Amino acid sequence: MKIVVIQGPNLNMLGVREQNIYGPMKLEQIHAQMKEVATQNDVEIEFFQSNLEGEIVDKIQECYGDAQGIIINAAAYTHTSIAIRDAISAVNLPAIEVHISNVYRREEFRKENMIAPVCTSSVVGFGPFGYHLAMMGMLQIMNEIQATNEAQVAQNQA
Ligand code: DQA
Repeated sequence: MKIVVIQGPNLNMLGVREQNIYGPMKLEQIHAQMKEVATQNDVEIEFFQSNLEGEIVDKIQECYGDAQGIIINAAAYTHTSIAIRDAISAVNLPAIEVHISNVYRREEFRKENMIAPVCTSSVVGFGPFGYHLAMMGMLQIMNEIQATNEAQVAQNQA
């Protein structure tokens, strides 16, 4: 089982940008914690960050046939990108979107969300801990998929 974590524009600046909103934690630290949880659960994990919409679309497409789940913070593209939304729909994988801040308590334009309707679930406003919650959610989904697959195999053998 493999999870791909996709981080959108300016998330490479975590720990520097607007610490009052996003906190002091750097992206590398968040990823290190996620990696630890993945290793403990015997799951492969890959991290990708880009400031470019097309590169994010390419990465989502690459997940098709390669990964079983996506955790994505599309950052500002969340509010604008039909292309990223369509890519998530296209690969048809379980996807959990994360927002560090509570976008619903901020500016009006952040309430617009192109991504959420095509995701399995959203984690919003828990700070960097939201990535850990998304990991827990994704591991649960992976377990359910595995159990369903095993039941199918058993049924076919009966
Ligand atoms: C964000 C919220 C977005 O509105 C913003 O553009 C970001 C980060 C968050 O994680 O809270 O870059 O996705």
